Amino acid sequence: MYHRTQIFAMAAILALGIGVASADEVDIGAGERLHQESCAACHGGSGVSEVPGWPSVAGQQADYTRHHLRLFRDEERYDPQGLMTPESLGLSDADIRNLAAYYAQLNPPPAQEVDEELAERGRQIYFAGVRDRNVTSCTGCHGPRGQGVQGALYPLVAGQDQTYTVEALKGYQSGERTSDRNSEMRDIAKRMTAEDIEAVAAFLASMDAAKK
Ligand code: HEC
Ligand code: HEC
Repeated sequence: MYHRTQIFAMAAILALGIGVASADEVDIGAGERLHQESCAACHGGSGVSEVPGWPSVAGQQADYTRHHLRLFRDEERYDPQGLMTPESLGLSDADIRNLAAYYAQLNPPPAQEVDEELAERGRQIYFAGVRDRNVTSCTGCHGPRGQGVQGALYPLVAGQDQTYTVEALKGYQSGERTSDRNSEMRDIAKRMTAEDIEAVAAFLASMDAAKK
């Protein structure tokens, strides 16, 4: 027979165990509801933005979304338009996990119509870099389809809004956006010209991560 206090101890351990398990669980339905209530007005009903300068969030790697929502909440991510930091202040860790899981299973944003000449220059940079300025290619980290890498914090960049990408790259270039933990993007963007940035942003917008 177990002693009463042993039973209490076992019950407490069980309760703890359940608590730990639920901390990793995600509720995609809850993520979807929260998105429609609080985020869809700016990021689009299906996570695809329709406003220049506002990013799409659909299809994004879950670890990247989680990391960035925490950064916004903690006021650690550069937020040039000042729109995301107040939005993300009220999010709990569970909200963040649910939103990230919801976005990760949505279709990535479709390819957009862009200036073809500009996008062709961007395609060369994306796959081959710019040798004389020591700009490395982008494909090694963001993938041949711009899909990013889950687990490495390399984001999906395909189909992203062109204006947003230009601003993101300029933020790294000026050093104001410091969310790249190993300075990967700041180091690359510093060596890019304004024309390189415009070209690569057009090419990213023209990519479709779902297409081979
Ligand atoms: C008033 C408009 C607005 C609302 C509402 C809003 N956002 Fe944003 N969001 C933005 C803007 C603008 C940015 C880009 C910030 C920047 O310029 O770097 C952004 C950036 C993001 C990013 C980072 C994207 C990336 O590729 O790095 C995520 C993730 C995100 N928002 C999720 C959310 C979620 C989740 C909600 C709801 C809780 C939400 N947003 C509500 C405007 C909004
Ligand atoms: C060594 C790996 C690496 C290479 C090479 C690389 N990136 Fe990145 N990139 C990252 C990481 C890591 C992040 C996420 C940083 C952060 O969290 O802000 C990122 C973020 C970005 C973002 C911001 C995405 C968003 O949603 O806000 C853009 C745009 C981008 N990269 C474009 C490029 C382009 C264009 C190139 C090639 C010229 C390139 N990257 C090369 C690792 C890399």
